[in-house]
Amino acid sequence: MTGLFITLEGPEGAGKSTNREYLAQHLRAAGLDVVLTREPGGTPLAERIRELLLAPSDEAMHADTELLLVFAARAQHLSEVIRPALARGAVVLCDRFTDATYAYQGGGRGLSQARIASLESFVQGELRPDLTLVFDLPVEVGLARATARGRLDRFEQEGRAFFEAVRNTYLERAAAAPQRYTLVNAALTLAEVQQQLDSLLPGIEARCRG
Ligand code: TMP
Repeated sequence: MTGLFITLEGPEGAGKSTNREYLAQHLRAAGLDVVLTREPGGTPLAERIRELLLAPSDEAMHADTELLLVFAARAQHLSEVIRPALARGAVVLCDRFTDATYAYQGGGRGLSQARIASLESFVQGELRPDLTLVFDLPVEVGLARATARGRLDRFEQEGRAFFEAVRNTYLERAAAAPQRYTLVNAALTLAEVQQQLDSLLPGIEARCRG
């Protein structure tokens, strides 16, 4: 039995955390075994790597260091959480995955897509998400929401050009593989965003039941 691997992507302030709870609640109510997790993180060790990645520091982190830390956390998360859950047939709902690496380390930091792709194959083998929901919204809206939440992490302190590149990379990846990606308009109110999710849920449930 293989489960279904669903990832949620988008910039800061897109409402991913609230909406992943909403999706998980609905899929559980439909009787599905749902594993809710996130990246970077998802295991105690990977959460420690997350702290290294997010904490502002006087020593600038080299882009290659950042890339390798992201994949180090992912290797741990895959082996401890994602692969075992998929093997028992669960639905894995993961807040961010390798599309975030293409968007942030590729688009934002300017690292080559080819280098990211080679680490993706090294760490994941053939494993890719079955479905990726991209919560899209204009950069200024996301930044305003993130700023309103309080203290900014190392990524949130980046400027507008960085987040424009992040957004464009997500949109390009979604346009290149429409069978895997679904865009969600995250600039709308929460109720309207959840209406969009409601319209996706029957299809997701059907795929989960294989
Ligand atoms: P968040 O999950 O709380 O939004 O924060 C995680 C941050 O980590 C976010 O700014 C995006 C960043 N990130 C990367 O830069 N690369 C990655 O591969 C992942 C998973 C996250």
